Amino acid sequence: MAAGVRASEPRVLVCLGALLARWVAAGLEAVVIGEVHENITLRCGNILGPRGLITWYRNDSEPVFLLSSNSSLPPAQPRFSLVNASSLHMEALSLQDEGNYTCWEVLNETRWFQVWLQVATPPPSAPQCWAELSPGLFTLQLSCRWAGGYPDPDLLWTEEPGGVVMGTSKLGVEMLNQPQLLDGKKFKCVGSHIVGPELGASCVVQIRSPSLLSEPMKTCFVGGNVTLTCEVSGAYPPAKILWLSNLTQPEVIIQPSSHHLITQSGQSSTLTIRNCSQDLDEGYYVCRAENPVGVREVDIWLSVKEPVNIGGIVGTIVSLLLLGLAIISGLLLYYSPVFCWKVGSTFRRQDMGDVMVLVDSEEEEVEEEEDAAEEEEEEASEREESPKEVTKYGHIHRVTALVNGNVDRMANGLQALQDDSSEQQSDIIQEEDRPV
Ligand SMILES: *[C@@H]1O[C@H](CO)[C@@H](O)[C@H](O)[C@H]1NC(C)=O
Ligand SMILES: *[C@@H]1O[C@H](CO)[C@@H](O)[C@H](O)[C@H]1NC(C)=O
Ligand SMILES: *[C@@H]1O[C@H](CO)[C@@H](O)[C@H](O)[C@H]1NC(C)=O
Ligand SMILES: *[C@@H]1O[C@H](CO)[C@@H](O)[C@H](O)[C@H]1NC(C)=O
Ligand SMILES: *[C@@H]1O[C@H](CO)[C@@H](O)[C@H](O)[C@H]1NC(C)=O
Ligand SMILES: *[C@@H]1O[C@H](CO)[C@@H](O)[C@H](O)[C@H]1NC(C)=O
Ligand SMILES: *[C@@H]1O[C@H](CO)[C@@H](O)[C@H](O)[C@H]1NC(C)=O
Ligand SMILES: *[C@@H]1O[C@H](CO)[C@@H](O)[C@H](O)[C@H]1NC(C)=O
Ligand SMILES: *[C@@H]1O[C@H](CO)[C@@H](O)[C@H](O)[C@H]1NC(C)=O
Repeated sequence: MAAGVRASEPRVLVCLGALLARWVAAGLEAVVIGEVHENITLRCGNILGPRGLITWYRNDSEPVFLLSSNSSLPPAQPRFSLVNASSLHMEALSLQDEGNYTCWEVLNETRWFQVWLQVATPPPSAPQCWAELSPGLFTLQLSCRWAGGYPDPDLLWTEEPGGVVMGTSKLGVEMLNQPQLLDGKKFKCVGSHIVGPELGASCVVQIRSPSLLSEPMKTCFVGGNVTLTCEVSGAYPPAKILWLSNLTQPEVIIQPSSHHLITQSGQSSTLTIRNCSQDLDEGYYVCRAENPVGVREVDIWLSVKEPVNIGGIVGTIVSLLLLGLAIISGLLLYYSPVFCWKVGSTFRRQDMGDVMVLVDSEEEEVEEEEDAAEEEEEEASEREESPKEVTKYGHIHRVTALVNGNVDRMANGLQALQDDSSEQQSDIIQEEDRPV
């Protein structure tokens, strides 16, 4: 907006008083701040009364003509115009308009004035603030940044609630003192910019001491590995996490080694102890999280146990299974001959293995035969009465013969039976065809 000639205004006046009829020395220029898209008027000195011939130049690497009070010289751009016969009026400022401008005045003598035009832009985003450890000192540093605007905004830090001012600066950095480091305390940064907004923009930082979460105890087997975890939450700024062992007194910070592996991801830390040993590793471990706001510790008890022999367990289970199997087999062997006796006494003289085999096969065969007989019986009974009787008795006879006969006879009998049964099938068919 139409920001007038600022800080240097009184200086310019004083100097003009001294050097009124002379050239105004360079370095006594005014600084004017304009805004993008707005209009601005640059004054040629602060002289009242009649003016001489005025010419405006832009002072970059070499002067560039802009405008003259001699109306026969057209302005360099239509957005430039002369106000009150001396001031340069510029419309629709852009960032490229930023620079030094010079006006020449030719009256009794020639003199010139310089104006430094700055073009301001409001920061495009909200201010950002954070707390961090100040390098070197173990105290907290508040930082506030409101980037993208021009010129740099002023940044004001206050304690909340209450709004006690801590300081204002372009840098936006304030140090916190020990009494201010209270858990949950808030600090507010207000950025104010020449371009606005009127009330400024703000951000808030809340500092918090860490909270810890961990398992209270862990077990490791001798020679094995164990991982202790420790999770920090709520800490702002983020906490530094340390592992200590309280096995020896006083507590000792555990340094990473091949025995102790420490990893941290975000605010979660793990301590892996490899090749656990009862003497060296059993005891209390301490996870400590600290930031300038507070320190928290949690104890974890690690017990180291002799490994349970898994191979032994498996071996025992297998042995028991084998034993059970043996007992069942023995019972089977014990009761099977009795069963065999009932089915066929003729095989008794065979040795056990043979008897088993024979019994098995005989049972199957007999069963098959009986099944076949029954099937045929049923088939037959469904149809006719008289032929069925014949086949039925034939079968019974053969089965009886088989049971009482010797092995050879059995084999033959089986063969015969199979042949017969197929014959019988055809017989039955034939019988069916036959008129009763
Ligand atoms: C800038 O000046 C021109 C002409 O004098 C006027 O029409 C325009 O509204 C002005 N713009 C602003 C943003 O004031
Ligand atoms: C501006 O231009 C004038 C005229 O050429 C020159 O005398 C003066 O040194 C220039 N100023 C700067 C800051 O370049
Ligand atoms: C104005 O400019 C014209 C053209 O350059 C020139 O002829 C005339 O003398 C100038 N007038 C004054 C008063 O300098
Ligand atoms: C122009 O002159 C009038 C009266 O002399 C004054 O009120 C006004 O502020 C002047 N404008 C500029 C831009 O110097
Ligand atoms: C304007 O001139 C001053 C010295 O008079 C210099 O410090 C400043 O950088 C110049 N501004 C620009 C944009 O060149
Ligand atoms: C400039 O000239 C006018 C007459 O043209 C005179 O009245 C005035 O005093 C002179 N100014 C200076 C500073 O010499
Ligand atoms: C312990 O960890 C190491 C390294 O990760 C690995 O080589 C070793 O096999 C692990 N031992 C056991 C018992 O898991
Ligand atoms: C750790 O050791 C300290 C003494 O150095 C003792 O006061 C504290 O109780 C111990 N902590 C545990 C968990 O043993
Ligand atoms: C594990 O620790 C025992 C002593 O505690 C050591 O004798 C052995 O060599 C270690 N094994 C490995 C793989 O580091």
